[in-house]
Amino acid sequence: MSTMKNISEAEREAIISQAKSAVNDEPIDWFDQLYGMADRDSAIIPWARMYPNPIMMDWVEKNCHIGKALIIGCGLGDDAIGLENLGFSVTAFDISKHCIDWCKERFPKSNVNWLVGDILNPEQEWIGNFDLVVEIHILQAIPDGGIRERAAEQMPKLLNHNGQLLCIGRLDNGEQTIQPPPWPLQEDWLKRSFDMLTLTTFTEFVNQDSPNVTRYYAAWRKQV
Ligand SMILES: C[S@@+](CC[C@H](N)C(=O)[O-])C[C@H]1O[C@@H](n2cnc3c(N)ncnc32)[C@H](O)[C@@H]1O
Repeated sequence: MSTMKNISEAEREAIISQAKSAVNDEPIDWFDQLYGMADRDSAIIPWARMYPNPIMMDWVEKNCHIGKALIIGCGLGDDAIGLENLGFSVTAFDISKHCIDWCKERFPKSNVNWLVGDILNPEQEWIGNFDLVVEIHILQAIPDGGIRERAAEQMPKLLNHNGQLLCIGRLDNGEQTIQPPPWPLQEDWLKRSFDMLTLTTFTEFVNQDSPNVTRYYAAWRKQV
């Protein structure tokens, strides 16, 4: 298993800034620009871990029945493969076509349904369809002031009866100063955004490799 390259904050900012300026700072288009620029070199992708998110895997193993899962903004695909290996039937989408083509090349034998898609405009057949919906580092990668709120609004709609939403990201605890993206999320904002669901966990944690960054994972259940 390869591990995530530890890039510095300065390197992360430089890579993102290059991709953003190439597409006139468009809030979402720069992702595809970045995946294209990387030309299959995962070291260029600041969030590429190249193995499933361990917090997600642990939480899912303890809290979910096997069923249908949707990964929002799947990046290089390792989280989708992690869930498939647990037995889930997985749909994984990303706004970037370069990224989805890369996933298909990396995992040619997988049965994951890889799709180009936009959380702001989800496919009709996804509505009410999933036992598990996962967003990792997506809401924090979208600026606020409208787009992020619209993205969050779509997520609960994708859950079936009793379906669960899992979010993982950076938490804004008022102490971190960072050149966005990402924009760490406030606990209040998250709780308000999903207040039509039942909150089942909200847990703060830090990763060993970035002990100064406060992170969270949170899960909600749709109870009808
Ligand atoms: C910070 S990366 C996180 C990727 C992955 N979830 C991970 O944890 O490695 C954000 C991802 O969201 C995708 N993305 C951004 N806006 C999106 C949108 N509106 N709909 C779907 N995917 C989006 C980007 O292309 C990128 O792959």
